[in-house]
Amino acid sequence: MDLATSYLGLRLRSPLVASASPLTGEPDSLRRLADAGAAAAVLPSVFEEQLTHDALELDALLESTADHYAEAHSYFPDYQAVNTQARAHLERVEAAKRAVTIPVIASLNGSTPGGWVRHARRMQDAGADALELNLYTVAADPAVGAAQLEARQLELVAAVRAAITIPLAVKLGPFYSALANFAVRVDAAGADGLVLFNRFYQPDLDLDELDVVPRLVLSTSDELRLPLRWIGILYGHVRASLAATTGVHTGLDAAKVLLAGADVAMTTSALLRAGPDQLAVIERELVALLSERGYDSVAELRGSMSHRNLPDPAGFERANYMRTLSSWSSRHPVSPGQAALLAEPGD
Ligand SMILES: Cc1cc2nc3c(=O)[nH]c(=O)nc-3n(C[C@H](O)[C@H](O)[C@H](O)COP(=O)(O)O)c2cc1C
Repeated sequence: MDLATSYLGLRLRSPLVASASPLTGEPDSLRRLADAGAAAAVLPSVFEEQLTHDALELDALLESTADHYAEAHSYFPDYQAVNTQARAHLERVEAAKRAVTIPVIASLNGSTPGGWVRHARRMQDAGADALELNLYTVAADPAVGAAQLEARQLELVAAVRAAITIPLAVKLGPFYSALANFAVRVDAAGADGLVLFNRFYQPDLDLDELDVVPRLVLSTSDELRLPLRWIGILYGHVRASLAATTGVHTGLDAAKVLLAGADVAMTTSALLRAGPDQLAVIERELVALLSERGYDSVAELRGSMSHRNLPDPAGFERANYMRTLSSWSSRHPVSPGQAALLAEPGD
């Protein structure tokens, strides 16, 4: 089985990529992921807030030494020498590159253009093979409309693109009112890949502490259908590579996103639950499934069930809503699609 695929212009041995998580941030677990067959790994993100905060600290430091201007040049701190979170992150990129030979994708998380974007270049210089820009935003300000927010994000994509020469992927959330249009504009702004989707962690309320508390719940395969639909819709409409993230737990999940048009299937929750070696299990399942169905390579199946290649593309669109609702039956409380999945082979 030829699993080879191309993502962001990088040639990968398989379409299975470890997305950003604590597992990719430590050289030991990163090495285990690579040994289990991960074709590439995305490192944990460094956040705009961390970089902005560090820059402010650096400014304060520079100001406190400015009185001694005569000698200032001798002890003005070199930004690289300041032991900040930004520096620690660059060291993480260097350590990852020393630990594995697979492509290492560094990750920046932010939503507004600014001086912090300079860090993208430092990540490239630290050895990153590509950069993933995560546009994680909660559009909570009633004064900022969709057009303004999107324009700001596109400006950021263009600024990061201009700062680096390595490939750039952009990780998006699913909450845009015209997602296909925004995706096409991110592509035009210089993204070499789109990573669909960010998983938004919803806060909870603690009634004892009267506090808003974070609640991180790992995904299940049920969540695959959101990226699956949008990869199917976007396939053929963007020049950028497509990566699926959220809900890839099994070889079957990976096969589905490839059929819809993804170049790679990224996974995190499955690896956090079962350990880095689970990646080899997913690969074995994928190979078995493709062989059973007579495929010789990943290239052969990619996109064959995308929106544009289906006999009835309405299944990806509004008509799917009507079909889903009418598929409900009180006598058979599972839809036909679900029943097919639950059926034993030979039923
Ligand atoms: C503990 C944890 C840490 C994560 N850290 C990052 C991160 O630093 N940057 C990022 O872009 N995504 C991060 N993610 C999101 C994952 O990369 C992935 O997109 C998400 O978990 C959905 O994929 P999954 O369903 O396979 O888990 C993190 C997820 C988890 C569970």
